[in-house]
Amino acid sequence: MVLIRSLILAASAVLPAAAGVWPLPKEQSLGNGTAWINSRVKIEITYAQASNASTTYKLARSSDYSSVTRRRTSQQGLAETRINAAVERAKTQIFKENFVPWMFHKKGEDFTPKFTRKDAIEIKTILIKQTEPEPDNSADAVIDESYTLTIKQDAADLKKATVEICGKSSLGVLHGLTSLTQLFYSDGDNRIYTPFLPVAIADAPKFSHRGLNLDVARSFYSVDDIKRTIDALSWNKMNRLHIHITESQSWPLEIPSMPDLAAKGAYIQSQIYSVEDVAGIYLYASMRGVKVVLEIDTPGHTASIAYSRPELIANFNAQPWAGFCAQPPCGQLMLDSRDVDKFMTDLYTDLLPRLKQSGATYFHAGGDEFNANSAAFDPTVGSNSTEVITPKLQRFVTFIHNQILAAGLTPVAWEEMLLDWNLKLDPKVIVQAWLSTESVQKIVNKGHRAIVGNYQFWYLDCGHGQWLDFRPENFATFYPFADYCSPMKNWRLIYSYDPLEGIAADKAHLVLGGEVHMWSEQVDGQVLDARVWPRASAAAEVLWSGNKDANGQNRTQVSITPRLAEMRQRMVVRGVQASPVTQFWCLQNPGDCQL
Ligand SMILES: *[C@@H]1O[C@H](CO)[C@@H](O)[C@H](O)[C@H]1NC(C)=O
Ligand SMILES: *[C@@H]1O[C@H](CO)[C@@H](O)[C@H](O)[C@H]1NC(C)=O
Ligand SMILES: *[C@@H]1O[C@H](CO)[C@@H](O)[C@H](O)[C@H]1NC(C)=O
Ligand SMILES: *[C@@H]1O[C@H](CO)[C@@H](O)[C@H](O)[C@H]1NC(C)=O
Repeated sequence: MVLIRSLILAASAVLPAAAGVWPLPKEQSLGNGTAWINSRVKIEITYAQASNASTTYKLARSSDYSSVTRRRTSQQGLAETRINAAVERAKTQIFKENFVPWMFHKKGEDFTPKFTRKDAIEIKTILIKQTEPEPDNSADAVIDESYTLTIKQDAADLKKATVEICGKSSLGVLHGLTSLTQLFYSDGDNRIYTPFLPVAIADAPKFSHRGLNLDVARSFYSVDDIKRTIDALSWNKMNRLHIHITESQSWPLEIPSMPDLAAKGAYIQSQIYSVEDVAGIYLYASMRGVKVVLEIDTPGHTASIAYSRPELIANFNAQPWAGFCAQPPCGQLMLDSRDVDKFMTDLYTDLLPRLKQSGATYFHAGGDEFNANSAAFDPTVGSNSTEVITPKLQRFVTFIHNQILAAGLTPVAWEEMLLDWNLKLDPKVIVQAWLSTESVQKIVNKGHRAIVGNYQFWYLDCGHGQWLDFRPENFATFYPFADYCSPMKNWRLIYSYDPLEGIAADKAHLVLGGEVHMWSEQVDGQVLDARVWPRASAAAEVLWSGNKDANGQNRTQVSITPRLAEMRQRMVVRGVQASPVTQFWCLQNPGDCQL
């Protein structure tokens, strides 16, 4: 399809002004006509209903989507609830959370279309269709997230226009609604219009796993902070929230059968995620097409367990710490202890069925930065040699992965378990790379599915300086106190990262997608939005659309900036305090800020 993106009355036709959907759809054709959306627009939803005969499906129509009462399978019921909720959100976003896009037009320019009842084309109907029954919720099923979206004048009455959104799954329908909300602006007088009539979009993601990893243990985030982050993920068509929920520094997760774990391991009693909090986060995410992947990192990064169970942790808070762990406090689960085995079994027995009940399909067992020198102080290991440690580590990891598999969940592991310790992992285990591009190649060459997110590109914590204090004798060595992964990964660098770099074509299907990482040594709820957004949006576009155009060329930055800035503006008006992309002058004069 041809891409037409000229705005009406745009003085400079050389470069497109900010336009519409982020991340960029696979195929889109946008016109330059104006259509106003009527605030009493009629919304008709057609749900797919599975019949018992597996080959034919009956389409049930409901004009009042809020009172659907017919019988349905539970997966389909979830799909309908999800679509209904998304429609309500889309209405709010289009009519109440919109903006006048003045920052994308030259100073003094009259770009806002004028509503005159006589001439106006009005959108009177939105048709929404889920065309196939909701697929099973399983970790291995690749859900079809594609959708089509059209806005066109009615042949019978050219003063009327109709929106039609079709998705095979509820997720496709959600993405269509998300795109729809991004095609409308306010005229400043409470009227909402699209300048893109007619619209024809046919869209689908490049990668199935498009995520953010949020560390909620080094710093605690309120449930509202997490939900707001889920909102923004869904607006960017990201579909995974990996929550790194425990760490060496704190254990903020309630485990009812072991109440002292959080009571003693959290920073303070008010910073604990209850059973209800976790279930609520899963539900909130599911309604927005986001799957939560909870991580309890093991066997390293577990010192906080020692506050309630010192007998399980080797080398707790060893000092000086630098030889024994990546961060203070040191401490790792003992590798070959029946007490640790019982602890892990009790923990998983309590937690995993609840996660499964909440719709989880993955569970992240961790596995990064296991420290050999700390293992030397583990009485069940007693050596830092690879030969001694590896079989014990293999036993531990197999033991916990088997429990995750037995609970009906797919384990996720950090790359070190596979690549540094050369453990044999169940073929189902998904391996998360973070250290390099070569890691991804090695993971898929070993036949495992991979999640990418090289720290030199996709770590959002980098470049904010050290959080450690330096003793006088080390002051000069570490001056000016840049952190290990400095500099800050700006959106252009994030955008330049290709998840398939160096991956053979016949292995590409094993790269499920990627995650950007928000480690929280120096981030909390006060600054979360600005630290994550809109940089994570850059990764979202790489994961949804790829970072190259249809001809395989890198997209030009000048074509991305106004779109990203507009996405940032949408996030801001919807309550996410995303950072600015550039100064307004550059947005008002597209193309004039190139070097
Ligand atoms: C709108 O698009 C049509 C068809 O491409 C074109 O002929 C017309 O000049 C455009 N109008 C403006 C104001 O850009
Ligand atoms: C259809 O499904 C319902 C509910 O699962 C079941 O009770 C019924 O027997 C099924 N009918 C056929 C023809 O399989
Ligand atoms: C084990 O400890 C020795 C002595 O401290 C050290 O030289 C060696 O590098 C360590 N080996 C590993 C694998 O960490
Ligand atoms: C395209 O981007 C890649 C990084 O993603 C870079 O290495 C390469 O030089 C760019 N190519 C051109 C022609 O700009």
